[in-house]
Amino acid sequence: MININNISSAYGRVNLIGEHTDYNGGLVFPTLIPEKTTVQLTLSPSHSHSSSYLVSANSNNDTISYLLGEEKNCSHWSDYLKGVTKILREENFNIFGYNININIESNLPMGSGLSSSAALIVALFRAMVNAFHLNLSDIDIAKLGQRVENEFVGARVGIMDPMVISVAQNPGQALFIDTKSLCYQTIDIPDSLEILVINSGISHSNRSGGYLKRREECEEAAKILNTTYLSDLNLQNLSEYKRLLFSQQSTTSSNAETLFKRVRHVLSENDRVLKLKDAFINLAASSSSLNLIKDLFASSHLSMKNDYEVSIPEIDRLVELVSSEPHIHGARLTGGGFGGSVVALVEKGYKEIAYKNILSKQQQL
Ligand code: GLA
Repeated sequence: MININNISSAYGRVNLIGEHTDYNGGLVFPTLIPEKTTVQLTLSPSHSHSSSYLVSANSNNDTISYLLGEEKNCSHWSDYLKGVTKILREENFNIFGYNININIESNLPMGSGLSSSAALIVALFRAMVNAFHLNLSDIDIAKLGQRVENEFVGARVGIMDPMVISVAQNPGQALFIDTKSLCYQTIDIPDSLEILVINSGISHSNRSGGYLKRREECEEAAKILNTTYLSDLNLQNLSEYKRLLFSQQSTTSSNAETLFKRVRHVLSENDRVLKLKDAFINLAASSSSLNLIKDLFASSHLSMKNDYEVSIPEIDRLVELVSSEPHIHGARLTGGGFGGSVVALVEKGYKEIAYKNILSKQQQL
């Protein structure tokens, strides 16, 4: 029995640590945030005699429609919906027989590094799964969600965002994910800490520019170092990788230096993910873990700034400002970079006051 009317939603995410490791077969440690995207899907019988079905959707009073089977990318929010129906068709799921009407509401800011796009994609998949009783697991949705971005939208993102958004249950838990095997472990945010997200207001995009360039640089380095994934390399062998990158004839020395820095970021970041996960688990038993957590956030940010070069001066200043606030136990740029948000850990009970102080100082930046 088809489900004629249903409401599905998906939370946004913030990545605690493990940046630009997901498309390098590495480790990530994201968590859900309370802001979410909600999709109301209604099916109505098609009165047309041909087998063409209309999909119509509305978001923020912007209404679009297209015929199922005629999905075309037009650099618009509706590309996410078109990508979802196209991939479902390609995978031979039966989503035919009805006109589909969708209403989207979201309190996730777009372009803020909090995965508004993956939340929309996962909410749409959930709505389609509920409406047509499709046999898709949470991990299937994550994989198809990444394909929507890669193959239809044209953003060569990794699997972290759809994976955590589809698989994790509630804000307050983090997911330690091995993006190569897709094995994951749920880790509770320590009781003594809360997560604070500060949106810089500088919009970022994963479709082009720096994000794409970084991905290509990693692919180039992996080729020279004869590995499929940079994350399969060993942090202890960095000097050997440096020698190999500089000895490659086709790379200029500045290019070799750049590639080496990208490799160093990926390998050191994977190491920080492991350490942060252990520090979260050990925090109740050892207060020294708190210092380690702060150091890991600081070194992750420095690595994104100096080795991966995805930060910008405005974000560096914001990270500095947030880090200097009392009761903050770590702050860093989160997400793809070149704008977006800063994630911080704050001592429980001090989130609101810290946020207020930061906002008033941010206005003076
Ligand atoms: C964006 C992408 C993710 C990941 C991060 C950087 O959020 O969607 O796949 O690569 O950037 O860690």
